[in-house]
Amino acid sequence: MGKPKGASTPLVSRKAVPIDTEGGQLEKGRPKPKPSRPFYRRYCAITGFTCFLLFCLWSYAWDEFRFKEKITSLVRSRGGEDVRRLDPMGVDAEKEPVYLSGPCKPSNNKLQLHEPKFEDWTDDDIDAHRRDWQQWITQDFPRRPSYEELSRRLAQNGLPAMEGRGIVIYGSRANLKWMNTTISFLHSYGTRLPIEIWSFANEVSGSGDRAALEGLSRPGIPVRVRTVEDEGNIFRMTRGRSNGWHIKVPALLNCGFREVLALDMDNVPIVDPTFLFDSPEFRKKGAMFWPDYWKTHSQNPVWRWMGAPCVDEWEQESGMILIDKERSWKALNLLWYIERDDAIRKWHEFLHGDKDLYRFAFRATETPVYWVPHLVTPGGFVAPDDQGNPRFCGLCMVQHAPSGNPIFAHCNLLKYANHRLFNATHPPLSVIKRYKPLPAEWLPVGPELGTRMMWGDTRGAHAGLISAHGMTCVDIFTDKMDGVERQIEMDSLEKFNPAFGERLYGMVFG
Ligand SMILES: *[C@@H]1O[C@H](CO)[C@@H](O)[C@H](O)[C@H]1NC(C)=O
Ligand SMILES: *[C@@H]1O[C@H](CO)[C@@H](O)[C@H](O)[C@H]1NC(C)=O
Repeated sequence: MGKPKGASTPLVSRKAVPIDTEGGQLEKGRPKPKPSRPFYRRYCAITGFTCFLLFCLWSYAWDEFRFKEKITSLVRSRGGEDVRRLDPMGVDAEKEPVYLSGPCKPSNNKLQLHEPKFEDWTDDDIDAHRRDWQQWITQDFPRRPSYEELSRRLAQNGLPAMEGRGIVIYGSRANLKWMNTTISFLHSYGTRLPIEIWSFANEVSGSGDRAALEGLSRPGIPVRVRTVEDEGNIFRMTRGRSNGWHIKVPALLNCGFREVLALDMDNVPIVDPTFLFDSPEFRKKGAMFWPDYWKTHSQNPVWRWMGAPCVDEWEQESGMILIDKERSWKALNLLWYIERDDAIRKWHEFLHGDKDLYRFAFRATETPVYWVPHLVTPGGFVAPDDQGNPRFCGLCMVQHAPSGNPIFAHCNLLKYANHRLFNATHPPLSVIKRYKPLPAEWLPVGPELGTRMMWGDTRGAHAGLISAHGMTCVDIFTDKMDGVERQIEMDSLEKFNPAFGERLYGMVFG
């Protein structure tokens, strides 16, 4: 649990440098002539180098040409009726048209990871796993007890029935400082929602641990500690040998609320989030999800496994999830089925943790979701670098309310930050860095805003992990992407919560 929860920012060695495989192979493949005289040697070297340069130029020009051609044909297709539909894996294209927003891209993560390798997963194996969950959800799930029946059973077991509203936080005694931070901020806003803290049993061992966590209660606002292995839970799951990210699934399924805001323990609300429960977007859809910085690689086995054609959309950042359990029951059950034990979790290691399985399970069960249409924004600080130039470092993923105002700071990199750099007047989180809105002439390509997770407005957006001020940070970039160059602006978080940065510093490092 020490790793960033939800694995939204997969850890990568700071030394990781993208490898130019083409260049490498080219040099290896060329037989080395053995000229007898230095003149030939030089001649061959110069010829070889020139050929290599020409090859690079040609491949760059070809890529540019292919890209422009695709964009042009897309613009044309959007002008006419020719909206492209895909039906590669049993997705009903009539019911759910799949709008291709451009090439289903490998990924937008230029600076992040090496090209992922998915060869270990054979199509036959993936197909077998897909048929397995499809069979479970169509044949077994309908025979299981209903939501109301299970809710009644929980109450009979002496546990809270699945009713009302509440907040679920995944955590343990070891994260008491973070729990205290998140819960203290909620109390300071006057949030009056009951809280359940969920852990695996080995993460809260004694009654002392429980008492410390339950000590975060306030009069009328209980904090209840629950473990996945509690007798009486209706959905069982074990910690197993994996890293424990799957705790979200049993926590959501078993928790004693019907409407749940589930938070990673290092996800600190910037304002009182209670209004989200009453927002028209949540009331209408019954689930609200937030986007991540990344896109899923087109060759990732998850598309085939979950029976979804690859689309150009943002991944999900599941550091916060708002759901009406009853309305999302089928999707949640599917999540439980595809994460139920170590063997299957080991099999789907092509994902960074399980954060994106929510997106896939909700789609596979045709469960409605409201996607917050504002791209996640890095939040952090600016300080002079070695040369004295101001340098931004993003340590938190700042997420937005439907209105566009910042609402959560998921500080998944703050845990690894060099705290000696900060103090109350220079806190680790004071600014957010975001893209300026796109000029109207750039908007026509791609789906409408919100159709495929807000693609239109986020064209050209891309983030990466960087090393700055001696730590790993997230930053966003302006170099050309999707044929668009974005402009960036900084904003002060103080506009939205004047004392936030200072208080966060005090609670986390003070
Ligand atoms: C939580 O933080 C507050 C400071 O805001 C501190 O007074 C309190 O002792 C902390 N509680 C625990 C259990 O750590
Ligand atoms: C706080 O940190 C900044 C930057 O590291 C430094 O310039 C400033 O003097 C510090 N202030 C205090 C009160 O330590």
